[in-house]
Formats: sequence, structure tokens, C-alpha cells
Amino acid sequence: MATIRLGKSDLHINPIGLGANAVGGHNLYPNLNEETGRDVVRTALDLGVNFLDTAFIYGPGRSEELIGEVLKEKGRAKAVLATKGAHKFVDGKVVMDNSPAFLQQSVEDSLRRLQTDYIDLFYIHFPDEQTPKAEAVGALQRLKEQGKIRAIGVSNFSIDQLKEANVNGYVDVLQSEYNLFARDAEKELLPYCEANGISFVPYFPLASGLLGGKYTKDTTFRDLRANNPRFQGEAFARNLDKVDRLRPIASQKNVEVAHVVLAWYLKQPAIDALIPGAKKPEQVKENLKTLDVQLTDAEVEEISSIFK
Ligand SMILES: NC(=O)c1ccc[n+]([C@@H]2O[C@H](COP(=O)([O-])OP(=O)(O)OC[C@H]3O[C@@H](n4cnc5c(N)ncnc54)[C@H](OP(=O)(O)O)[C@@H]3O)[C@@H](O)[C@H]2O)c1
Repeated sequence: MATIRLGKSDLHINPIGLGANAVGGHNLYPNLNEETGRDVVRTALDLGVNFLDTAFIYGPGRSEELIGEVLKEKGRAKAVLATKGAHKFVDGKVVMDNSPAFLQQSVEDSLRRLQTDYIDLFYIHFPDEQTPKAEAVGALQRLKEQGKIRAIGVSNFSIDQLKEANVNGYVDVLQSEYNLFARDAEKELLPYCEANGISFVPYFPLASGLLGGKYTKDTTFRDLRANNPRFQGEAFARNLDKVDRLRPIASQKNVEVAHVVLAWYLKQPAIDALIPGAKKPEQVKENLKTLDVQLTDAEVEEISSIFK
């Protein structure tokens, strides 16, 4: 099984990880079956997919709890566990809090739900408006020194927030939306990460399934995607046409469109690892085929230009 080092951290992982927001993420997806969620995680660990990505807000808390249960079964050492915090409920409303006290409490709460005494990678899930970012990351650095977390991540930070957060060089990983349909990160975030030894983990790598190559113009959605303009009307049809243009490249390599898409991200210098989401164990197994795909520079350019 391929193993890479995640940026300048001490984490060594399979570059194909698992995005676990559909494991117990009842607030994101309707009618999730928890046993299927556990099976997704079991399958990942059995196949050597060790980089698991979760967050307090998936569930809320339930994704972490289910992963914790599976890790009790399979062994904590099998996983490189990433989770995130910052969401706080105040009078039934969600607000962001990056204060040192709240982050410290969030780490303690995640440790309990995950039934572990260390988190490999803890991210500030979203920036808040009030906490200086170096102060927030300083709190995570202290948790790292205490051995409660092993690496520091930030997520959904703008370039200015990232620079402020990384003023002492403490940030190991940035997680932001990035996929063939959403390429803003190429302007500033990816170059900054590359120059500063920060590993960039793209979320929505399959554009919530749109880049998976399985949808047709007749596919309908009953979750968050139903309200996403990318999945509606003519835009949806145009997007599917672009995905169709990947099929010859995939079939020539004897893989599926999803594998070509995922392999494309791994050609970016700042990207070491991916966390495609899976709702079924088969998808976890499927996504591992990405590791067999070699893209030439010409193919990387061709794919890029289809989605420009
Ligand atoms: N930091 C943040 O703010 C943030 C935000 C969002 C997500 N995330 C993280 O990023 C992870 C990935 O995002 P995501 O799961 O929302 O979206 P994604 O990875 O872009 O898409 C995942 C979806 O693609 C489909 N799929 C998976 N494997 C496939 C395959 N081999 N072929 C075809 N389709 C396939 C499945 O949907 P269907 O079965 O429905 O087709 C799956 O649920 C999340 O799980 C979460 O851990 C982080």
C-alpha cells in the first residue's frame, strides 16, 4: 500500500483517504443507515485506507462516535484520524468559535466521542470573526505539545486568514473546497501552501458525486444537492457534458471517470492526499483504483482545459 508523508507533519498515510461526512452525518444526508456507515469505515481500514476525515458537526457528533466504535473494534493504530471543531450551538443557532478555550474544549469532546487519547490532525473547521488566527492556532500548538493532537489544520480560511494563522509556521494542513468545477484555490491558496510546506486537502473532490461519472440528466437529488445550482437545469446538463469528455481518458486506462478525476488532483504539487466521500463500502474500494492511474502531463492539461 502506498504511503506518503502529509506535508511537513509526522503523519504517514495512504494518499486515498475517506471523507466521512456521510457516516452518521444525519444533519447532512437524510435516511443514513448507521450500520452502513460503520461498514464504510471498516472497509476502509481493512483495505488500508487509513486517513479518516470527520468533524464534530457531522451528526453533530455522531460521525465521530461511529468512527470511535469501529476503531475500538479494529484498533486505533490502524487510522490516521482527522477531525474538526469550531461549531457551537447558542440558543439553537450555530455560531463559529475559534477561541483557545473553545478549541481546547472541542478537542476534549472529540477525544471522548472518538474513544481515543490522541487526534492525529485537528482542524479549525471554519474561521470565526473575532479570534486572531495566530492565537487560535497557538492554542492548537499547545495541545500538540501535550500530545492530544499530532498535527494542526485549518479549513475554509481565506488567504489572509491562512497567512495570519501560519505566522509562526505551525499550520500543517489546509482543507478547502477544490475540484474541477471549483478552482479558486489555484489563485492563491495552492501556491501559498506549496511555498510553505502546507499540505492542501481538497474537499468535495468529486463535486459531491457530480465528478463520479454515474449521474445522468434524469438523476434527481433529495439532499443538499437539490438546492445546489451546479445540479440544476441547464447548468447540470452542461456539467454532465464536461464529465462525459473524461470518459475516453478513463476507458483508455481501464478505470472510471472518478479515478481519473482523483488522480488529477494528486498531480498538484501541494496536494498529497484526498478524502473522497463514500456512502457505501463499494465506493471506498472503488476509489482506491485511483492509485493505479498515471496521468501524462498532456492528459493533466487536457482535463484542466475541459473544466476551465
Ligand atoms: N472542511 C469542510 O468544510 C468540508 C466540507 C465538505 C466536506 N468535507 C469533507 O470532505 C469529504 C468529501 O466531501 P463529500 O463527501 O461531501 O463530497 P465528494 O467527495 O465530492 O463526493 C462524494 C460522493 O461522491 C459519490 N462517490 C463516491 N465514490 C464514488 C465513485 N467511485 N464513483 C462515483 N461516485 C462516487 C458518492 O455520492 P453518491 O453515492 O450520492 O453518488 C459520495 O457520497 C467529506 O466527507 C468531508 O469529510 C469538508
